[in-house]
Amino acid sequence: MRRAGQVTREVLELVRSKVKPGATTFDLEKAAEARLKALGVKAAFKGYHGYPCVLCTSVNSEVVHGIPSPKRVLKEGDIVSVDFGVVVDGYYGDAAITVPVGTIDEKAARLLKTTEESLKAGIAAVRPGATLGDVGSAVQKVVEGQGFSVVRDFVGHGIGVHMHEDPQVPNFGEAGQGMKLKTGMVIAIEPMVNAGKPDVKVLDDGWTAVAADGSMSAHFEQTVAVTATGVRILTE
Ligand code: MF3
Ligand code: CO
Repeated sequence: MRRAGQVTREVLELVRSKVKPGATTFDLEKAAEARLKALGVKAAFKGYHGYPCVLCTSVNSEVVHGIPSPKRVLKEGDIVSVDFGVVVDGYYGDAAITVPVGTIDEKAARLLKTTEESLKAGIAAVRPGATLGDVGSAVQKVVEGQGFSVVRDFVGHGIGVHMHEDPQVPNFGEAGQGMKLKTGMVIAIEPMVNAGKPDVKVLDDGWTAVAADGSMSAHFEQTVAVTATGVRILTE
């Protein structure tokens, strides 16, 4: 799973380097696809329940599952969430980053920083004997401490020989509640954070989830393993 995680990270960093005003989300897709082809690695998302691309690219108020398009031109001040995964020798990696396009305003920058910090807080709560509620409440505290909202309609997940395995990993909850983590478990923690209200709706394309109030939304994700001493981030 570490090998899948390394490829996932390599491609995400390549995509980050391609984000700039004037680029389209389909340019990002093409760059990711070309690198995958060179590496001989299979994308996790393309074909998953009919999903058409290797990346999800969600701009501004889009929360997750935005579909890359040559018509979607990134402009200065936008934010773009890029979600990506691969399968290597039958094992999955899954990660996401939100990238600023040129210079972004102060609130958007705070949204990105807070969402990334909330993921770090969730990861820091992972160790054998901790519960999923410990993880979710750690994420939620960071997000709500900044006056932002945790999206409830999508959650993290177990991951291994499938992209989505049990358990569900919510980004909210009560410390001490929920399933206990054990050494050897691997989960994807993926806070989706709205600057406004937590509600989302899915557009007519059947995929793109947007913040119902039109507020900006950010998404960071890592695949992490529970180890005897704590946690290992497989997608870093
Ligand atoms: N990366 C998403 C997740 O974390 C899954 C993408 S959905 C897909 O669960 F259909 F695009 F694959
Ligand atoms: Co995921």
